[in-house]
Amino acid sequence: MQKILILDFGGQYNQLIARRVREQNVYCEVHPHDMPLDEIRRFDPIGLIFTGGPGSVYLPDAPKVDPGVFSLGVPILGICYGCQLMAQMLGGCVTAAQDDSAREYGKTVTFFDTSCKLFADIGEESVTWMSHGDYMAEIPAGFSLAAHSEACPTAAICDETRRFYGVQFHPEVAHTERGREMLRSFLYKVCRAAGDWTMADYKTQAIEAIRAKVGGGKALLALSGGVDSSVAAALMSEAIGPQLTCVFVDHGLMRKNEGDEVEAAFARRELNFIRINAEERFLSRLTGVVEPETKRKIIGEEFVRVFEDVAHRIGAVDFLVQGTIYPDVIESGKGEAAVIKSHHNVGGLPDTVDFKEILEPLRMLFKDEVRQLGRELGLPEALVSRQPFPGPGLAIRVIGEITKEKLYLLREADAIFREEMSRAGRASDQYFAALTNMRSVGVMGDGRSYDYAVALRSVQTSDFMTADFSRLPWELLDRVSVRIVNEVRGVNRVLYDITSKPPATVEYE
Ligand code: XMP
Repeated sequence: MQKILILDFGGQYNQLIARRVREQNVYCEVHPHDMPLDEIRRFDPIGLIFTGGPGSVYLPDAPKVDPGVFSLGVPILGICYGCQLMAQMLGGCVTAAQDDSAREYGKTVTFFDTSCKLFADIGEESVTWMSHGDYMAEIPAGFSLAAHSEACPTAAICDETRRFYGVQFHPEVAHTERGREMLRSFLYKVCRAAGDWTMADYKTQAIEAIRAKVGGGKALLALSGGVDSSVAAALMSEAIGPQLTCVFVDHGLMRKNEGDEVEAAFARRELNFIRINAEERFLSRLTGVVEPETKRKIIGEEFVRVFEDVAHRIGAVDFLVQGTIYPDVIESGKGEAAVIKSHHNVGGLPDTVDFKEILEPLRMLFKDEVRQLGRELGLPEALVSRQPFPGPGLAIRVIGEITKEKLYLLREADAIFREEMSRAGRASDQYFAALTNMRSVGVMGDGRSYDYAVALRSVQTSDFMTADFSRLPWELLDRVSVRIVNEVRGVNRVLYDITSKPPATVEYE
């Protein structure tokens, strides 16, 4: 399989570059900028991309790359900082823009030389996304100018002989109108990619690799019903069938029908599936608990305990399977296995379970690729395209004390909201109902009611670090509100949350 190597200089869009490359059916990996030259050679890339970064190339501690990369005979695309670094290391001159004239932030009309291979297909003028305070005052020998903007004469450079290209703007972000085509030209015209990265191929290779690794051994997987652990389970079961045991701890805090749906998705597969209905166990430990962090901690601990009990019953296993995905690996910064995050994995998995090795069959995949793989493996769409759902489940959507009655009200209200949203075809990144801890007076028929208020939440986000509330149509909100107060006895008021993150968070607790 052909590979593109992305060298990371700390830019905020680095993962996005990798996704854009993979979307075009070319495999790539992100590695630190100081990756040793012999490792780069062993990686054997068909092309290199230098990312952007917050530094300035002329400062003494600026991140650099081994100068040997320029003699590998491999095409290079430098983006923003990466472009400036290439220009400087090859004899050009980069300086801070003295006044505001050559400094650019935001959407910028840019003019292209269409004789440059990168820009051959995109027309002479379009908008790019710029974000730079430094600029190339002199371009290195052998390069020619390939784009300019009103403020910046050196918006792109190219050396077609050595196949080195540099762009001051960010082709990976959506605001760069023709960015996708530029990256495609780099991959296909310059690096001569064959487009050999497809999920069907990946599936076959991954299954072979898992079989070779596991041999006749036994593997154990904690299945939460989330996308990652479900796809990991489907992949592992395809590879090693009955040697795999999946433990699904149903903590009684799933959404309406969710536990059964997860079970049904795996029922036909040739694997050992164990569902532990632990609702009573979890709810009794949560009785009277109102503090959000305490709730989370109790659920995390209890999950580990239930899982441990099952693991001990099964006996020694050789492999523990985890659904770590590539963003976690990149975020760890060193390309090393991500430490289990308590936030992601319901408190983390136990240290005391007896296993020899951890298997992470999805560690090189982005979320959208994981979903694609899930489809290849025949998982139902509802599972594959599932929104994020927090490990502690509805416990952090019932504000205050958790009771069975409150969970029931929330499940019903949430199911109505989700049904109406999907019927309306609304594209929202995450949406759900929460049960507030507030009761208020209402009038139903001729009588007084004193019931709970449900809060609806819907957000648009790309990374869940920040989020904007969705501007849902009034008619849709009206429909949901009418249905909830009519169909869910015990709820007499529906609120719509119009706070973004920050200052709020997506979840309520
Ligand atoms: P917050 O509330 O932190 O949520 O703005 C951001 C995203 O993370 C999800 N979330 C969790 N996911 N375990 C998870 O696996 C958790 O404990 C957890 N808490 C929040 C949340 O649903 C949103 O997508």
